[in-house]
Amino acid sequence: MLSISVKEFLYWKKKQLSKGGDHQSFAVLLDCIGGISTFDLNLLSINPKETLYLKKNLEHLESIWNDHLSNSSPIQYLCGIAFWRDLKLKVTDKVLIPRPETELIIDIVFKIFGKQSQKLTFAELGTGSGAISIALALAYPLWDGIATDIDQDALDIAIKNFINCSKQTNLKFYCGYWWTPFESFKGKLDLAISNPPYIPKDTYEKLPKEVKNFEPEIALLGGEDGLKHIREIIQKAPLFLKEKGWLILENHFDQGEKVKQLLIESKFKSVEIVNDLSGVGRFTIGRYK
Ligand SMILES: C[S@@+](CC[C@H](N)C(=O)[O-])C[C@H]1O[C@@H](n2cnc3c(N)ncnc32)[C@H](O)[C@@H]1O
Repeated sequence: MLSISVKEFLYWKKKQLSKGGDHQSFAVLLDCIGGISTFDLNLLSINPKETLYLKKNLEHLESIWNDHLSNSSPIQYLCGIAFWRDLKLKVTDKVLIPRPETELIIDIVFKIFGKQSQKLTFAELGTGSGAISIALALAYPLWDGIATDIDQDALDIAIKNFINCSKQTNLKFYCGYWWTPFESFKGKLDLAISNPPYIPKDTYEKLPKEVKNFEPEIALLGGEDGLKHIREIIQKAPLFLKEKGWLILENHFDQGEKVKQLLIESKFKSVEIVNDLSGVGRFTIGRYK
């Protein structure tokens, strides 16, 4: 631990933020690399005469901040950590940085299932860092979860995250193409969730460079119209869901109506578009028969 006066630290912090970037990214840097949480930071302003202890020196922190600003590298990749709901997850450039809007999927599940104590089986398709499945496995210790990803490197991160977040064993990981690893779960799922790659090709080409140059294409690109993977997931879902089993999908801001139609064509009932916090129809849900 390195000690530094609070006054010197606050001066340095102001200088870094004056170069650009946002407070949230800077807080991630301070927490993950410097060992100073947002809570500690708030206390500093109250006790400016105190001494502060850092895990790494200011030069090291500054070099990461400069890298973030000059190359647009996401701070989460530079620090190797992303915060999502109450989870602190390891991330590398093999996984999508889990987004705040996706956090709402967990609330949708809470709304549908409440605080159920009975055993259920859920599946997540395209787990990436494992965020969604881990949050559910922790919230529902009696549920059994299975999660897939096509990319073994991503799955390795998800597995590490599950081990780091919990001592539970109610989540298993499988590598493979969408439903393929779930052959033995046909007709057995109470709930399936996916935040699949859904960005249409022309939109993908125009994504900001901090996304396009750093995050995995396989996690973002959804074919010409963005719906390639959503179509495949919906078409096979009836084989795997129990009667009255739920499917929850995240989609692009303008895909809700199309996804709703696809679900209806596949005989889903109670189909509904659910808005995210900015009022965008970000999720489409349905119940199989
Ligand atoms: C948008 S990311 C979502 C990651 C994570 N669930 C989240 O919400 O942050 C989509 C994930 O689907 C995976 N994926 C892409 N194509 C796939 C396929 N054909 N089968 C299984 N997983 C796939 C990607 O590797 C990526 O991890």
